[in-house]
Amino acid sequence: METTTIAEIPTISLAGLRSGRLEDLERIGAEIGQAARGLGFFSVADHGIPSELIDAAYAQARAFFSLPQAAKDAVSVVQSKRYLGYVKIGEENLDPTVPGDVKECYNAGGPVHENDNQWPDLPGFRETLQAYHDASLELVVLLQRAIAVDLGADPSYFDPHFTASVGMLRILRYPPHPGTFDGSVYGAGAHTDYGNLTLLAQDDVGGLEVRRRDGTWVDVPPEPNTFVCNIGDCLMRWSNDVYVSNAHRVVNRAARERFSIAYFGDPNADSLVDCLPSVLAPGEAPKYPPVRFADYLRSRYEDTYAVVVPFS
Ligand code: OGA
Ligand code: NI
Repeated sequence: METTTIAEIPTISLAGLRSGRLEDLERIGAEIGQAARGLGFFSVADHGIPSELIDAAYAQARAFFSLPQAAKDAVSVVQSKRYLGYVKIGEENLDPTVPGDVKECYNAGGPVHENDNQWPDLPGFRETLQAYHDASLELVVLLQRAIAVDLGADPSYFDPHFTASVGMLRILRYPPHPGTFDGSVYGAGAHTDYGNLTLLAQDDVGGLEVRRRDGTWVDVPPEPNTFVCNIGDCLMRWSNDVYVSNAHRVVNRAARERFSIAYFGDPNADSLVDCLPSVLAPGEAPKYPPVRFADYLRSRYEDTYAVVVPFS
């Protein structure tokens, strides 16, 4: 007997997302909604972000992480009040029950936090990351329209929450794994993402894993020309837990380094993350009180970083 398996992490075509037609938002929103109610992860194809821009960002990531350690430390996140800049290996610990993450990364803020960015002295780095940030934010706003429709709201429901988005772009490098994975040292420990939507470009090395409901882990294999997209904690709250912000981790089991680029699609600092009225059945109460996004983010950063710095 032939069985049809539904992909645990489906690939969703975004063709039509920019058409301005409600039927396109409904179709794409329904596909996203199904994945968001499942493992909370999906891949997006036909997303409209030029491959040249993605390649350029990878090239900048390689150049940055190849800089002498002192040049990277000169833009350290430790001296930033917004967690922008370089995070060295072991400095971030996404899963406090295991040792610090075996990864290094660089965080860049968008236009709202441009003055807080610490740009390294690398030709084209700043311009490339800024262009990548802007393209990612535009895509997240469009995805949020399809999501709003899926959640029974007006397509523009989330638009006002992204007018001064504090979304962050992060380039990451995972060194070749030093030996057999012993179950305790992770490239990135198990965690959920904090904001609304994350767009992740991963190279061809692999290593991203997503937790199933039964506690086992499923690989998210690299797929060219796609982004892995996942629901963050705030969108889960906004949807009253209809959508799932799911745990994921990275283990680089390869003998070569792995690069990835994550864009955290976050709302405005002052956005009130609050249950959409349209997701509540008559008489049903929201599970969470409203929370200002920046307050929520600060509390999550405090759990993740050894340094605690002011954030507003
Ligand atoms: C993250 C993350 C995955 C990756 O930075 O939150 O989950 O593949 N990254 O780097
Ligand atoms: Ni993550």
